[in-house]
Formats: sequence, structure tokens, C-alpha cells
Amino acid sequence: MSEFIKTGNATSRRSFLKTSTLAASALPLRGRLLAQAAQADARIDVLPAEPIGTISPEIYGHFIEHLGGVIYDGVWVGEGSAIPNEGGIRKAFIETMRAVQAPLLRWPGGCFADSYDWHDGIGPAAKRPARTGFWGQQDSNRYGLHEFLRTCRAIGCKPYLAADLRSLPARDFYQEIEYCNAPAGDVPSNSAAKAEPNALAAERAANGDAAPFDVDLWGVGNESWGCGGNMSPEEYATEFRRYTAWTPSYSKTPLRFVAVGPNGDDVDWTTRLFKALYANPERRHLWGLSVHYYTSGSATKFAQGDALKFDNDEYYDLLTRGSIMERVVTDHWRAMRTEEGQPRVKLVVDEWGAWYGKGTELGPEYNLSQQSTMRDALLTGITLDIFQRHADKVAVANVAQSINCIHSLMLAKGDKFTVTPTFHVFQMYLPHRGAQAVRAEFTAPVIRNGMANASTPAGGNSYRGSLDASRALAGLSGSASVATAGNGKQITLTVVNPHLDQALTTEVVIHGAAIASATGTVMSETDVHAHNDFDHPNAVHPRPATTGQPAGGRLLHTFPAASVTTLQLTLA
Ligand code: AHR
Repeated sequence: MSEFIKTGNATSRRSFLKTSTLAASALPLRGRLLAQAAQADARIDVLPAEPIGTISPEIYGHFIEHLGGVIYDGVWVGEGSAIPNEGGIRKAFIETMRAVQAPLLRWPGGCFADSYDWHDGIGPAAKRPARTGFWGQQDSNRYGLHEFLRTCRAIGCKPYLAADLRSLPARDFYQEIEYCNAPAGDVPSNSAAKAEPNALAAERAANGDAAPFDVDLWGVGNESWGCGGNMSPEEYATEFRRYTAWTPSYSKTPLRFVAVGPNGDDVDWTTRLFKALYANPERRHLWGLSVHYYTSGSATKFAQGDALKFDNDEYYDLLTRGSIMERVVTDHWRAMRTEEGQPRVKLVVDEWGAWYGKGTELGPEYNLSQQSTMRDALLTGITLDIFQRHADKVAVANVAQSINCIHSLMLAKGDKFTVTPTFHVFQMYLPHRGAQAVRAEFTAPVIRNGMANASTPAGGNSYRGSLDASRALAGLSGSASVATAGNGKQITLTVVNPHLDQALTTEVVIHGAAIASATGTVMSETDVHAHNDFDHPNAVHPRPATTGQPAGGRLLHTFPAASVTTLQLTLA
């Protein structure tokens, strides 16, 4: 007999069937409904009366770093390039980011940020100094602040700047803010002195951008427990306060400062950081706590494993360890609590994705580029569903990284370009943006992780943490939201079925409402190793889902094996 699991709450097959029977007996179409429930392998209960929070559009965010072929070639091809571009920026990059309605883009790192001097990337291109950056590569600085802001404008997204805390003084941080945000022309002095033009705003205008960049989201360092300075949480708390104690502000909306959070599930970092920050009354502008959680392609070593060659056990193991993101979110939310209660600080998961070892990179100079299969599409769905289920906690998230690095949406090399399966999942999840997340329960046969005999490596480049082995993978997981337009009658349900050889016929029940009609989109391939490449850029793509006809207000829908599905449900 199969073993069943209810997401977040284990249940037995008997109790699963009993719940269905009791609920069905209250309805007029009892006979048909009982037959429907009996056909089902699984069940999804959506509870619109139990709202979680508004799903922040910024959880579908992006990240680009000066690393391998991310900036040079991926994003920046240069104005004179034969590769289609808009002022030097790869056109296909802009169009793909528009196609997923990218809300924000993080730059310039990553670890690169903590040795980057923003002055090097401004002014006439020919005069910019070439320097050695964090990843041991020479950087021409041809792509700098103005080019990045132009990229954001072309996409129509917000910039998220990671500031250098390890190697530049606090003065450079606040002057970078001033350079980005001070208005051009006379700036009121707020004193008896007369208004004067701001020198940094004038420099920005001379460099081509008279209008302020209005950057409101700032990362104060990156991975300060590792590449960002090997600090303790207490040392970082002191630095965070020093860098943010005073910064110039030109708008009524306060700047959003993001403090460096844990490596993976290092709860000790968060607990001690918040204790240290809150021990001092000056904690202004602490808006978010960053979280970096990568899923290694190997069960035992960080950033190892093959992106394309994996067996069934490795497939399940990766998705099980990826699902730990839920625990990372809830653990750190709890760890942020101080004696004064839960602070109004949000989680910013600014790096996530599956990270494999060498073997599928685009070339030796494309450090950390890797292929991406249907397995990564499922991990994308599982991860976005976790963020949506925790809409009250996660305000921002950035996949690492958008192009040519780790869990990318795009691969590009010269004039060759393809989107990955991950791109399609981002598109499929768009209807959740800004909608009201509501509780949903998924009851389905559980998958045992046969490889759960070692602790899980977790963390970023400066890896040092591990998590207990994770033994069970939810047989069906997902999230539900109610659109703000449409009088509460439009529900989006996204669902991942990780079973490799079991389609799951599922009864979908909306508590307190009846489903009138359903449409859907599905990504599923006969082989989970399926992927796109330069010669086959459309090998993996979503298709319209065959949805069942609702009966008695419920829907019986079959989620194919190893699939990601979006259902749009219209309520009666
Ligand atoms: O995304 C690659 C690297 O991973 C980033 O530079 C760093 O922040 C993390 O360790």
C-alpha cells in the first residue's frame, strides 16, 4: 500500500479516504463525487478563507555577476557587435527578461561585489581601468553602473545593487547612493544656505544620465561570513550599523537595506545577528535579511554532480534537498524573532538554484555555466511554490544567475542562444504575481529518498554548513493564489508532480466554492534529462494541459509524471 503525505502534515491513506468521504457526503452529487474521489490518487484542498499574504512580484527576481560569461557575452556584447543588441546589451537577454516580466535585477555580485569599486565602471569607456576581479578574471570595466541601469530600463525592472562592504569605506557606500539618487540641478540645502547642484549628480549627468537612477534596494555586503570578509555575526552587525547609520535620502520612501543573512540554514548566524543588531537601538533601514541557499548536484559535496547525467535516485535526492528551502525560510523567520517579537524585516532569498560541478559548461572561460534539464524545471517549480506558500515572509528572491551561470534561464555564446526549461517555469508562474496566496493542502503518495544517508551540504561559494539528511519528498506540492481582479473567482494553482513513473489523478477541491471551469499549461517530457541546447532551443517547452470537466464543483485532473502544471480555475 502506498504511503501518503499531506504537505506539512503527514497523514495515512485511510484518513485521506475518510476525509474525502465525509466531505462528499454533504453534497447533492454524492454518488458521482464518491466515484470521483475513489478514482483519485491524490487530493488538493484549496482554502480561500485562509489567506497567507500578497505574493510579492519581486520573488521572481534575477541576478547577474561579473563571473565567467555572465556579463561579457551573456549580457554585454558591445555596441559594435554583429549580435543583435540595444546599445551593447544582448537583445535576446532583454527580450527574455521582458518575457518573464523580470521585476528586479541584482548586480554586480555575488562575491565579486565585495572587491568592486563602482568608480572603475563610470566615465568614458576608454579611460576605465582593467582590473582583476574576485573570480580571478580580468575585467575591462566596460560594463559599469550606467550600462547596468540601462539594462534595467530596457527590461523595465528595478535595480538591486550589492554594495562593497569588505574593501571600500562607508563613505563610498553613501556616495554611491548619492551618485545614483541625487537629483540633477539645484538641491535644496535644508539649511540657511542656498540650494546648490550636487557634484555627484552633476558627474552622473556628465556620464550620460541626468535623471536619477532612484535605486532603493541595497545589499549591504555579500556573504560576509565568507567571501565578504569572514566575519562573525557580531562583527557584521557592527559594520551594518556603521554603513547604514547615515545615508543620503532624496525621496519620501525609505531606502531598503538588506543585511547579509545565513549560509544555507545557518540559524546560529541569524539568531546572533539579530541579537547584536537589536541590542543597539539604532537599527534604522534594516528592511531585509538575505538568504543564500543552493542545492548541490551531489548528495555529499557542494557544487558537484552532473547537470545532465543522473540516475533516478539522484533525481529524487536533488529535489528532496531542494525542498529544504521551505525549512530554510521558516527556520530563519523564527530565528529573526527577538524579545520584542517578530521584526518587520522580510526575507530576501537573493541567491538560489541547483549548482552542479564541471562537465557541461559552455567553454573553459564560462566559469560556472551549466546545462539545465527538466529536473531543474521541477526544482524551479518547487522553489517558487515555497516562496508563494510563504508570501508573508519572502519579499524578494533572485535566481542565481539569469544567464550562463548555475540555475540559468538563458544560455548564450557568441551568436548562439537558447532559453532553458527554467525560463518556461518562470513564465508559467506569472499569474501568481501580486495575487493573494491562500493555504492549500496536498495529499499524495510520499517518495522516500533512498540517498538520505548523509548530511546535506548547503551554502554558497564559501561553503561551510550542512543540514541533516532529508528522507521524504512530497509526492505532490504546489501553491494557490486568488487573483486580486476577478471578484475572488480566479484561482491559480501551480503543482509539481515529481514521481518519475506515476501520473497522479487528483481531486481538486476549493473549500466554500465550486469550480466552474479550468484551463492549464503543463511542462512534462518523457525523459527528465530533456533539455534545450543551441541546436534544439525548443526541445523542452510547455503545452496546453488537458483538464477534466468539473463535476459537482470539483475537478479531477491528472498531473503527468515529472511535471510542472499551472491551472487557472474559474469559480462559479
Ligand atoms: O552565484 C555564484 C556565487 O555564489 C556568488 O558570487 C556568491 O555570493 C555565492 O557563493
